[in-house]
Amino acid sequence: MGREPARGRPGMVTPKDRRPPSVDVRASAKINLHLGVGAARDDGFHPLETVYQAIGLHDELVATEADALRVVTHGAAYVDVDAVPAGADNIVARATALLATRLDRAAVADFLVHKEIPVAGGMAGGSADAAAALLALDRLWDAQTPDDELLAMAAELGSDVPFALIGGTALGTGRGEVVTPVADSGPWWWVVVPSAAGGLSTPAVYRRFDEMFPGADAQPAPADRLVEALATGDPQRLGAVLHNDLQEPALDLRPDLADLLDRGETEGAVRGLVSGSGPTCVFLAESPTAAHAVAAGLRGGGQEVVLVAAGPVPGAQVVEVG
Ligand code: C5P
Repeated sequence: MGREPARGRPGMVTPKDRRPPSVDVRASAKINLHLGVGAARDDGFHPLETVYQAIGLHDELVATEADALRVVTHGAAYVDVDAVPAGADNIVARATALLATRLDRAAVADFLVHKEIPVAGGMAGGSADAAAALLALDRLWDAQTPDDELLAMAAELGSDVPFALIGGTALGTGRGEVVTPVADSGPWWWVVVPSAAGGLSTPAVYRRFDEMFPGADAQPAPADRLVEALATGDPQRLGAVLHNDLQEPALDLRPDLADLLDRGETEGAVRGLVSGSGPTCVFLAESPTAAHAVAAGLRGGGQEVVLVAAGPVPGAQVVEVG
């Protein structure tokens, strides 16, 4: 988690203006290079062994001091901002309530969230916003919360939120909330295709997993081979071991995605993969040039929104303090 702004506030000519203090944080999307899922635990969550990678697709959140809580969300044309929960269910509101309770202060701030990470896309966009809100408020309120406490609050907000704080490449265990950085000889180049036909509910995909694999092992599939491949820096080696146990249930719910995965590989991708619980699909490419060629091919085939992103990149980072 990056608490120091990467750059100063440009163009500040007056000694102090009258605008209330604000903090601007950028947070990254994640993909799962390996997602091993075990049989559901007694609490309903599934034990995971996963390798997360943060990639260069970002949401940006500006938190400004205010007397009431307000969250305004907008986003890129392909992002369905209407699908973001409103009111107390909004994850930025939940993060605010959690940190405010811990610090014994009022849960008030004004948030402007700009989304480029698809909603309900399997890329942890909500988790990125939660991590960004924690980091922004911690700075705005000058709380200097220790990292371990911030990570514990992140885990309360959602299984992917601790990873959204740390970014890079990390092994995730438990229900995904226990994160340990792993060595990565990237960069790796990804072509990202958000779904034009709406999102997938993560609980629904896990339920489908339970229905399709009633005899699933308690232990999730280990990530050792993926971790080894990451260290080689070789896209062919990485492509051969990409693994997602939620891919079959996601394809069962959204059969159109199988066609998309085939097309990306026909266009030259090393491997196509459903991102997390989907429906976003990601394609590993040999190089930046190859990634842009795959993207152009998919666009030529009628896919409207095709993005190119590299990973790993940092997690939530303060970019400006005003
Ligand atoms: O932790 P998070 O809020 O992101 O989880 C959303 C839902 O996804 C959970 O309520 C649960 O249905 C499912 N889930 C799961 N096992 C995990 C993570 C999430 O079953 N390890």
